[in-house]
Amino acid sequence: MKSVSLHDKEFILYLEEEKIQNAITEMANKLAEEYTGKDVVFVGVLNGCFRFISDLMKYIEFDAEVNFIKLSSYRGTESTGKISDLMSLNTDLHQKHVVLLEDIVDTGHTLDYLMDILKEKDTASVKVASLLYKPDAFIGKRKPDYVAFEIPNLFVVGYGLDYDGLGRNLNDIYQIKS
Ligand code: IMP
Repeated sequence: MKSVSLHDKEFILYLEEEKIQNAITEMANKLAEEYTGKDVVFVGVLNGCFRFISDLMKYIEFDAEVNFIKLSSYRGTESTGKISDLMSLNTDLHQKHVVLLEDIVDTGHTLDYLMDILKEKDTASVKVASLLYKPDAFIGKRKPDYVAFEIPNLFVVGYGLDYDGLGRNLNDIYQIKS
């Protein structure tokens, strides 16, 4: 079984690149059904979403804007629950259909924080697409609308997700070895 070591921890292969790409194509098709012909803005939540958004955009054929917001809440493998807005949204969302793109929805705190920000923006609609979702860790108000993979409550790295800064470059997703 393929494995990687990052800092003091070992991770084993969980989702292979091909499986991830297939799930993203499927998500793009679902988004096309809902958003073709609408005034859409994809908002990527940095840092973790950079690979997901870049691959998803390869399969989006309808017109859409792309923008980013940068948040931070994790230290090591634990969510701090305290979120800070490191780079704000600087685009006009008035009457636009917003699709938030998350790498992972874990406790859901980040999503709740984002929904609060977007409440004031007079959007036409807001939906959430997340590559990964941990239902057993979720304690938030807003669940993601589109999910590529529901996963158990275990820390994962790779494909944009990091452990203390490392692992974002990995093409597959790895799960922490217990
Ligand atoms: P939440 O606010 O608890 O839903 O967490 C959201 C953010 O925490 C994500 O955007 C990730 O950056 C980070 N995160 C949550 N779970 C993991 C994980 O298993 N691996 C790496 N980062 C994670």
